[in-house]
Amino acid sequence: MLEAVIDPELHSSVVDLGMVRDVSVDEEGLISVEIALTIASCPLRGQIESDVESRLRGLPGASGVEIRTTAMTAPERANLMAKARKQAAERAPETQVPLTTRILAVASGKGGVGKSSVTVNLAAALAAQGHTVGVLDADIWGFSVPRMLGVNARLGGADGKIHPNEVKVPSVRPNGPDGILKVVSMGFLVEDEGMALMWRGLVLAKAVEQFLTDVRWGDLDYLLVDMPPGTGDIQMALSRLLPRAELLVVTTPGLAAQKVAVRVADMARRSYLKVAGVVENMSAFTCDHGQSYPLFGSGGGQALADEVKAPLLAQIPLEPGVATGGDTGSPLALAEPQSAAGQAFHLLANRISTELMPPVEMSGCTARVFAAANANLAAVDAAKAAEHAPGDGEPISIRPAQPPNA
Ligand SMILES: Nc1ncnc2c1ncn2[C@@H]1O[C@H](COP(=O)(O)OP(=O)(O)O)[C@@H](O)[C@H]1O
Ligand SMILES: [Mg+2]
Repeated sequence: MLEAVIDPELHSSVVDLGMVRDVSVDEEGLISVEIALTIASCPLRGQIESDVESRLRGLPGASGVEIRTTAMTAPERANLMAKARKQAAERAPETQVPLTTRILAVASGKGGVGKSSVTVNLAAALAAQGHTVGVLDADIWGFSVPRMLGVNARLGGADGKIHPNEVKVPSVRPNGPDGILKVVSMGFLVEDEGMALMWRGLVLAKAVEQFLTDVRWGDLDYLLVDMPPGTGDIQMALSRLLPRAELLVVTTPGLAAQKVAVRVADMARRSYLKVAGVVENMSAFTCDHGQSYPLFGSGGGQALADEVKAPLLAQIPLEPGVATGGDTGSPLALAEPQSAAGQAFHLLANRISTELMPPVEMSGCTARVFAAANANLAAVDAAKAAEHAPGDGEPISIRPAQPPNA
């Protein structure tokens, strides 16, 4: 489970980096973990702790999680930096989703519950806060993101990589920074919707893999993945390729719909994905006189949230503007942010960006240590290369270029 906890600055999992020292589970199911941080006052400590906690909390049989943190010794830190550097060299980050990107897969047990509507409106709302948001339409067969966002240009790729279509989103705040949507969909590659229907199982999973490895995403704060309904090949491919993705499970308010959605949460547990939360869509419609009509029932979102032990993050009311916004390529969250559903999408975006998955900041401890270490290592390498061919397994010493916290 902890393989999925990434040190946001070193870009590797805390397990690979040797930061996980001790794991034990007592008879009551209390999980104790010791995490060794690069330095004791690491500003990312809170984030690493909460990521560790949230990965373990939902495990079957777990009654609680206890995290102790310690600080690494200087030789341990040197060893870790050498590892992180080696791993960074083995990766080609610009062709993949950056490790600092927060990934949310929007999933449901069945079609028609509003996954795509939630994906595009949430993406638009996050972008309106100034974030750079990728939208991957992984519903290869039933793609609808291009129409819903009003984007239909062919995907370009002069350098042999696929470049997403970009849409600028004006800020919601006066003088705030604009945001960017980067969109990739099968709809940008095939001539017509009928053609995508010829694709099958493994080929579909392969298409998603390509979207993750061959697309030049560039910088991304968030990546939202609009999933096909159910728990098939694409879901499994995603959990294999992006184990740190978290799920947003969409359900309609009916109690029967909630039962179907539980299967998605089960799949998530089997493939070790974390369920970040539940969104109830098509909640009660409120008419102009203020009368509320629960057309598709009520209580399903909360029931599902209780069952999968994840928070109910939003209830998006049934509102004609959501559908017309989707049909005309102008998401309601941007076209009518003051409408009830528009507000609900913005509240959802706020909860995600402030509470649940704040964007990863790059100003903390390890980044500084890493930069200093890298500068030194580069100098050491250059000196070595001048003397003799670089040998494996040679001890590397790190002399900080500047005192810590400088
Ligand atoms: N909150 C809502 N209010 C009104 N219509 C909605 C709402 N959410 C979705 N719809 C409409 O319901 C239909 C199905 O939604 P969609 O997002 O395509 O679902 P999915 O991606 O789960 O198949 C679309 O026509 C969409 O416009
Ligand atoms: Mg859809």
